[in-house]
Amino acid sequence: MDKFVIRGGNPLNGTVSISGAKNATLALMPAALLAGGTFHLQNTPALRDVNTMAALLRTMGVAAELKGHTLTLDTGGIRHFEAPYEHVKKMRASIYVLGPLVARYGQAKVSLPGGCAWGPRPVNLHIEALRKLGAEIDLREGYIFARANRLAGTRIHFDVSSVGATGNTMMAAALARGTTLIENAAIEPEITQLAEFLVSMGARISGIGTNRIEVQGVDELHAADVQTIPDRIEAGTFLVAAALCGGTVTLKNVLPDHLAAVTAKLQDAGASLAIHPDSVTISRTSRISPVDVTANIYPGFPTDMQAQWTALMSVAEGTAVVTDSIYFDRFKHIPELIRLGADIEVKDNAAVVRGVRRLTGAKVMSTDLRASASLILAGLVAEGATEVLRVYHLDRGYEAIEKKLRTLGADIERVAGEEF
Ligand code: EPZ
Repeated sequence: MDKFVIRGGNPLNGTVSISGAKNATLALMPAALLAGGTFHLQNTPALRDVNTMAALLRTMGVAAELKGHTLTLDTGGIRHFEAPYEHVKKMRASIYVLGPLVARYGQAKVSLPGGCAWGPRPVNLHIEALRKLGAEIDLREGYIFARANRLAGTRIHFDVSSVGATGNTMMAAALARGTTLIENAAIEPEITQLAEFLVSMGARISGIGTNRIEVQGVDELHAADVQTIPDRIEAGTFLVAAALCGGTVTLKNVLPDHLAAVTAKLQDAGASLAIHPDSVTISRTSRISPVDVTANIYPGFPTDMQAQWTALMSVAEGTAVVTDSIYFDRFKHIPELIRLGADIEVKDNAAVVRGVRRLTGAKVMSTDLRASASLILAGLVAEGATEVLRVYHLDRGYEAIEKKLRTLGADIERVAGEEF
């Protein structure tokens, strides 16, 4: 398993190009199961999670090939309707195949996702929605067994705003008989792009971008192409890196509207930002001011940026409180940040971060994707060398992050192999 060795203290300067959005791609790929034909997903990021989803689709008979950043999917040969535990345990987003398989093939056998590094992540909302659409669902042997002759449109009101459940339900409803009303739907940009992609495949969806989505089911959909939106979390991670290290960094290929909560908080923390239609330039000259953040559903501050913000606040000039209202236990990065000299106390679902003048390098362990990102960020400003172990977690969601950081002047290298 690889590790990163980082020597902190360098400012970051230059331009970095942001890749396509992981969480859009992981919804767009299973959507292709809804129609036969050849799909081209442009601006697809080269990530472990994308490879995992491609491998899962191949077990079903889909031909999947990523050339550069264009992913070609041929769904003419689908013969199997199962998502085995071996895939789902690696990536919870595998659950996204459930809705499309039941909607188009009337059957699916999908492993229940286990927990993840920071605790249980239920899928009850996905299952309840499909049951309401008429699927017969049994849970046994750790699997979801689903069957349906033809799904029937209905009214679905989510108690909790859920990105995945909204995506799965929208995909299932697209081929149901009749109309489905989805209320309290998630409005994350990745869901908006999924809805637009389904419409380009022939689906009839209104209310796109709102939390009240209406889907008029059709009998058949067709293949389509799509340009994946930029990854707002990768972009936010690089903005925080620049705010931490000082210097002037320009991010290209971003949609600033998707980043509004993050750029607003960075300005509150003392960073200067120049925001253009498809790029953002950030610089920091004064010390970092403490700014409280509560991670929430979109357009609130993203929970996927909570760990990165905590790293920034660990060297702020005062105390900040970082709360997560989505995942109450997403704090696996805190003990590792403390090893780097941070002064943080977790109380329920909030981290009280007392800024210190400097962090000091140490060996730290990645536990999950965004926790690993926060450790990289802390290492970029820690005095001396920081070794971040088990960086395969990072490779799930960041394309060549060390290369992108090195082009900006960071002293970071990947050390391959060995059991760290
Ligand atoms: C998506 O996960 C993202 N993953 C996550 O990003 C992100 O953290 C999350 O949305 C929240 O924004 C992908 O898009 C592949 P949810 P998802 O359903 O869909 C509860 C990353 O780092 N819930 O919106 O699984 C759940 O426990 C990843 O890129 C239920 O109770 O998240 C949570 O508290 C990590 N029952 C809340 O809803 C359900 O059936 C929001 O979860 C489903 C969810």
